[in-house]
Amino acid sequence: MSKITAAITAVGGYVPDFVLTNKILETMVETNDEWITSRTGIKERRILKEEGKGTSYLAIKAAENLIQKKGLDPKEIDLVIVCTASPDMKAASTAAYTATEIGAVNAFSFDLEAACSSFLFGMSTATAYIESGRYKKILLIGADKNSSFIDYKDRATCIIFGDGAGAVLFEPNEEGLGLQDELLRSNGEGRDFLQATYGGSSYPITKETFDEGKHYVFQDGKTVFKNAVFNMADVAEKIMKRNDLTNDDISWLAAHQANKRIIDATANRINLEEDKVLMNIEKYGNTTSATLPLLLFDFESKLKKGDKIIFAAFGGGFTWGSIYFKWAYNS
Ligand code: UT7
Repeated sequence: MSKITAAITAVGGYVPDFVLTNKILETMVETNDEWITSRTGIKERRILKEEGKGTSYLAIKAAENLIQKKGLDPKEIDLVIVCTASPDMKAASTAAYTATEIGAVNAFSFDLEAACSSFLFGMSTATAYIESGRYKKILLIGADKNSSFIDYKDRATCIIFGDGAGAVLFEPNEEGLGLQDELLRSNGEGRDFLQATYGGSSYPITKETFDEGKHYVFQDGKTVFKNAVFNMADVAEKIMKRNDLTNDDISWLAAHQANKRIIDATANRINLEEDKVLMNIEKYGNTTSATLPLLLFDFESKLKKGDKIIFAAFGGGFTWGSIYFKWAYNS
């Protein structure tokens, strides 16, 4: 009997309506469209404005889009994983709420957090469950409402991040398609360079820290940039080497959308032509856990059965990795 692999069989996505353009940001902080575009590749990002709506709102919308496109009965879903760095609330699972709201009443669910690598690590998790034979339909969602944790007076972060969600369905495959290999890493020495210090268990928010804005995301951009460039390119190159892949074999690079220059550096390292690099950073900015599934959502019609895709991500923690994947369907 052939080995069961874990393939993606459907994709959904959602971004909120409000468009925060570089022009609007020019009126909020000391910045300009030319600087943001040339340093990051970002032109605009989407922001969820409605009060009381959190990451689950985005996750539910992306999941509903997938369910409707695929004609899927949500009662058949075994497991819902919400990859996110911005859960709705502490102590209550965002995935549990999401699963119930979409009608996945027979599923169990949990959140998975690894900063900007959350979705990549979620792909590994979903694959392990499918390959084990234990579950047949896993809904993997990447969703983040970053705007809740961004200081819109800090030009080092507010120009980068946006809100959004993407969802994929993982199912068993008998043609050898889906996840082929993975190379995942983390290094906790990186946490000083990208974190929201207050509001977690180490440092609860006090009135003083709140007034100083220490619950917002802080980033030492230069250090994160250097580490992202080196590590994302490194794992992408290594995973190709150990699978005897050359640039000609690869159909697409699907890299975390944090900065166009980081994506370009990864593509250069593996000698990949520009037209094989999936990119939508100009529209959404960095949506953390949602960047990879939103790439699949936006470019689904281009992906063909058997296409070889290199996924790569880098994020806070530090966390990073690369996955070699074979696409399983024509849309
Ligand atoms: O997804 C998680 C992982 N995150 C990332 O991968 C992000 C990694 N980092 C980056 O993408 C980049 O470091 C940034 C986009 C955050 C910053 O770009 P940079 O090229 O590293 O800029 P910089 O911080 O070195 O600043 C260069 C100059 C400075 O001015 P001086 O000292 O040269 O006069 C900054 O003060 O640009 C200035 N600057 C800005 N100017 C206009 C910094 N931010 C801005 C801004 N608008 N928003």
